[in-house]
Amino acid sequence: MGNAVDSVLLNDWYALAKVDELQPGTVVHRQLLDRDIVLWRGEDGSIHAWADRCPHRSVQLSGGQVVQNTLICPYHGMVYNAQGRCIKVPSAPNYVPPPQAQVLTYAVQEQYGLVFVCLGKPANDIPVFPEWEDDRYLKVLSGPHYCHTGGYRAIENFLDVAHFPFLHREILGDPALPVIEDYEVTIAANGVHFDNVRVWQPDPMGTGQGAYVTYRYSALRPLTAYLQKGNPAGECLAILYCVTPVSEEECTGWMWVAVNFMGPDQAEAALAFQDKIFAQDLGNLESHNPKRLPLNPKAEFHVPCDRGSLAYRQWLKQLGITYGVIS
Ligand code: FES
Ligand code: FE
Repeated sequence: MGNAVDSVLLNDWYALAKVDELQPGTVVHRQLLDRDIVLWRGEDGSIHAWADRCPHRSVQLSGGQVVQNTLICPYHGMVYNAQGRCIKVPSAPNYVPPPQAQVLTYAVQEQYGLVFVCLGKPANDIPVFPEWEDDRYLKVLSGPHYCHTGGYRAIENFLDVAHFPFLHREILGDPALPVIEDYEVTIAANGVHFDNVRVWQPDPMGTGQGAYVTYRYSALRPLTAYLQKGNPAGECLAILYCVTPVSEEECTGWMWVAVNFMGPDQAEAALAFQDKIFAQDLGNLESHNPKRLPLNPKAEFHVPCDRGSLAYRQWLKQLGITYGVIS
């Protein structure tokens, strides 16, 4: 049915949980690239991401329980240590489990308050979010937002300004000023970049003040994008958008928003603003048919300001991506 998962995607990092929601002793199920994953945190605080399958009779380990730094399968109570090795068989205490009594384990990393997992051999670092370390910026996390569409459709929407006057009218665009002037697009080793995307916005920063703003966008990884927008007054808003491919036609988005013109007491307002924008995008995103992104330029028609999205599609093709796209 679906495509095999490309190594470029398997070797990348995806956010699966907030670090805070995984308190010691927690076990949760997630789906990533069509695979069932169990995330759990031992009582020593270490976080583990494993295939959610007990190698004994193939049930989900996410129905199990954490005891100290082990995970216990709900079916026959086998005990797995932090390395995924079966170390105890309750029905035969003296039996030494065979080599197959080993759960498939994955690489885990904590970054930006999120738990990132790589199902293959990590080929890249998690993309840098430059504003993260900058104390002048207030940071809020919008999401996770589940969306029944392919992850590339979500990234492409994030990179698209021409929809602002329509889907986000009165906030990010004005239907009376829908023209998008030409902007610079480059495809580089570290992704696709759009520079000098200039638009008038009635309320670009969620403060009620209209302004011309200039955007800079990057697709840093096939499913990770970044934007920075600023106005002449020096106000700046940046977003790191991490999209987790649940399946070829479903995704979950995590948006870290950083703003340099709001204080900690305005965190709720900053989050409400971003959530409102995403709520306007969601129904539209889910209405895409097909939900997978077509890489053949003839499959949909394009207008001048779609140069950026065409470059993104071209880059995905160059990377040899087949999962979640229509070639
Ligand atoms: Fe997990 Fe038997 S299926 S212990
Ligand atoms: Fe939008």
